[in-house]
Amino acid sequence: MNQQNNCDVLIIGSGAAGLTLALHLAKNADVVILSKGSLNEGSTYYAQGGIAAVFDENDSIEAHISDTLIAGAGLCNESAVRYTAENAKACLHWLIDQGVNFDKEENSLGEQKYHLTREGGHSHRRILHAADATGKVIQTTLAQRVKQHSRIRLFERYNAIDLICEKKSASADSKNINAENTNSENNKKQCIGAYIWNRNSEKVESIYAQKTILATGGASKVYQYTSNPDVASGDGIAMAWRAGCRVANMEFNQFHPTCLFHAEAGTFLLTEALRGEGAKLRRPDGSRFMPAFDKRAELAPRDIVARAIDFEMKRLGVDCMYLDISHKSSDFIKQHFPTIYQRTKDLGIDITKQPMPVVPAAHYTCGGVMIDQHGRTDIHQLYAIGEMAYTGLHGANRLASNSLLECLVYARAAALEISESLEQNNCFKKLPRWDESRVTDSDEEVVIQHNWHELRLFMWDYVGIVRTTKRLERALHRVELLQQEIQDYYQNFRVSNNLLELRNLVQVAELIIRCALDRKESRGLHYTLDFPETLAEAKPTILTARSVAQGDVNKTLTPNADDLIER
Ligand code: FAD
Ligand code: SIN
Repeated sequence: MNQQNNCDVLIIGSGAAGLTLALHLAKNADVVILSKGSLNEGSTYYAQGGIAAVFDENDSIEAHISDTLIAGAGLCNESAVRYTAENAKACLHWLIDQGVNFDKEENSLGEQKYHLTREGGHSHRRILHAADATGKVIQTTLAQRVKQHSRIRLFERYNAIDLICEKKSASADSKNINAENTNSENNKKQCIGAYIWNRNSEKVESIYAQKTILATGGASKVYQYTSNPDVASGDGIAMAWRAGCRVANMEFNQFHPTCLFHAEAGTFLLTEALRGEGAKLRRPDGSRFMPAFDKRAELAPRDIVARAIDFEMKRLGVDCMYLDISHKSSDFIKQHFPTIYQRTKDLGIDITKQPMPVVPAAHYTCGGVMIDQHGRTDIHQLYAIGEMAYTGLHGANRLASNSLLECLVYARAAALEISESLEQNNCFKKLPRWDESRVTDSDEEVVIQHNWHELRLFMWDYVGIVRTTKRLERALHRVELLQQEIQDYYQNFRVSNNLLELRNLVQVAELIIRCALDRKESRGLHYTLDFPETLAEAKPTILTARSVAQGDVNKTLTPNADDLIER
């Protein structure tokens, strides 16, 4: 018999999105936060550049909106962009009230003002930051607050495996469903919690919740080279898809142009703020190349810079390009980029004198689970926020530093909705048990390791910065073979972290490839040699289980959500 836990609100994920939501809700509800690793491990902790918001009197919300729309290459949902930009300042003030200290500087009148840095695609200095470790400051400050709260329980080292859904009760208010929902099957369903794997006891448990919120971050770990931490395996997107939610725009995976290229560096980002403060990209011979690609040169949006680097590397047959900030004073570099200065110094690179070797790497998932302005998904009582959600803010390419902002804005919006619709004195329900009677311990861990590597490598080679239909079809074929093998494995062996992540990664890979195959144009981050032009009309790619099953590309192996309860 597996253990059942109960709460009012289950938040799966402890990054900026999950922690912000928890802090907003804990006045009115008993909240459980689930975290796959330690509380701080997620992309939020590693964010460097900062958060975009209009704080400069020469800047304007209209300019923020316009820059976001331009970066999004015609595919942003304008109302989501406006909503985010208009709510940015209030959300930043909330963060400051929680104790986050952004860098300040003295202006000419002797007043202390926030130091605003600049990044690609922004027409003004607009990025609040804490040196080059903004994410660490945000994550640790929010984590501290959450730990002090008596109504928040932390379940660290717990993997959510799958959502538990049931037929919607007759009393459930249909207005609580995402208004855009076109999937009538889902109108009949409600989420009542999740199966979770306790990594300490290695046992599967369940958790009942009146409201379940997915805040599991992005899926960039599906690529061989990524700026993301290990937890970014797209779990929430895969879980929501298996439960029957729509997923959109997964073809738009953002590649950050400048990750450190060094055998011992692992994944280490070199923030775009370096270019914002004047760093130049150079070929191995020291010559600049960005001005030949775009008039904004190093400050062009990321898709353009990443493609230019990729192009030059392939043209010259070299392993990397170089990023050079050595013309700035040593004091300036150490004050603004202390983390990067130290990390590169440890690797034997003195960035006050030498350029840094850089390559692009998978960085951000622009698409995700479709939600409305309140964070509601297609399934009653199920919400999604943060990088895993598709709000329409980013369109075909995310503007730098809009992501942490989206986490804050949509966490707050979801909190308002949840507080209003939460039933007090709600009775806990008994959940269907997790059936392990037919599984044994894995005897071939090597299969999982091998499939992990294979998947991430062909995603990098075939579904990367420059695509073709043939490469995408090859990738889809391989994904289908892997899916079959992994599904067999999943049904026969006890779960482990690697198996759970692999199952989700292969699902997310399928969604990325299907979206990419559906898009018969190049736009923003999706660039294909077979359709290099941009079509006049911009449309999001929306996948539903039914459209994929009936699609002309190939069949889907996505299991039916009801099967999960019977497993
Ligand atoms: P995350 O912070 O990634 O948190 C996800 C959480 O979900 C983690 O706690 C994880 O353990 C948990 N989780 C995942 N799966 C499961 C599961 N199955 N069960 C239980 N828990 C699970 N954006 C900006 O706006 N500005 C920046 O300067 C910036 N810099 C960046 C630098 C780097 C190196 C990276 C990687 C990203 C950067 N981004 C930046 C993007 C931004 O950091 C992320 O988009 C944002 O932090 C995502 O927050 P989140 O709360 O959605 O997810
Ligand atoms: C960076 O600091 O370059 C990352 C900013 C972002 O991803 O928004």
